[in-house]
Amino acid sequence: MSSFRIRPAIESDAQGYIDLIRSVLIEQPPVDTPYAPEEFDPPVERIAGRIYDVNESENSCFLIAETDDEGMIGALTCAGGTLAADHHVTSLGMYVRKDWRDQGVGKALMDACMAWAEASPAVLRIELEVYAGNARAIHLYQKYGFDHEGRKRRMIYQNGAYIDNLIMARLLEKAD
Ligand SMILES: CC(C)(COP(=O)(O)OP(=O)(O)OC[C@H]1O[C@@H](n2cnc3c(N)ncnc32)[C@H](O)[C@@H]1OP(=O)(O)O)[C@@H](O)C(=O)NCCC(=O)NCCS
Repeated sequence: MSSFRIRPAIESDAQGYIDLIRSVLIEQPPVDTPYAPEEFDPPVERIAGRIYDVNESENSCFLIAETDDEGMIGALTCAGGTLAADHHVTSLGMYVRKDWRDQGVGKALMDACMAWAEASPAVLRIELEVYAGNARAIHLYQKYGFDHEGRKRRMIYQNGAYIDNLIMARLLEKAD
């Protein structure tokens, strides 16, 4: 397998990102994500616009992992709050392509995200929701200092069963 690198997304990554997420959503057995495959069909222009907006923003980031041979193999997004009251909050989501999991891609994306968050004066809280049974993701988040803040019981209904979501967050301390 070739080595991978992490970089901020640019607008021309939009189709690659859509293809990555689609490849994850059609996996069997299903991954721990609430979207059904048919519920993720954004126009490429909308994703390109989102990448543009993120790159203009101080409380959002859009990172990708890629290889020379295979293109995009992972992505991490942080969506910043849109109100004055939650401008310091950013919501994290991440996906790594199935054949690249457990090889440090998630860790590399988290390293880059934490470096971005530390450097951004705006970001004081990174939060996320994760399926309570997603042991790998929870392990990764705990490793990066995310604490359990709560549990949304029966938050998800999928494949005939109710699933709890955990709320996790990491606070960043910064000088005023
Ligand atoms: C969760 C995800 C983003 C992590 O990315 P990744 O590239 O697989 O992660 P890494 O290889 O960097 O690290 C995985 C860590 O989890 C550990 N791990 C793997 N399976 C585990 C399990 N069942 N229980 C606990 N830890 C586990 C690995 O040992 C490794 O930890 P270590 O570095 O301390 O040894 C990726 O697996 C993924 O895309 N999963 C499907 C989508 C998803 O769940 N996204 C998160 C939604 S909140």
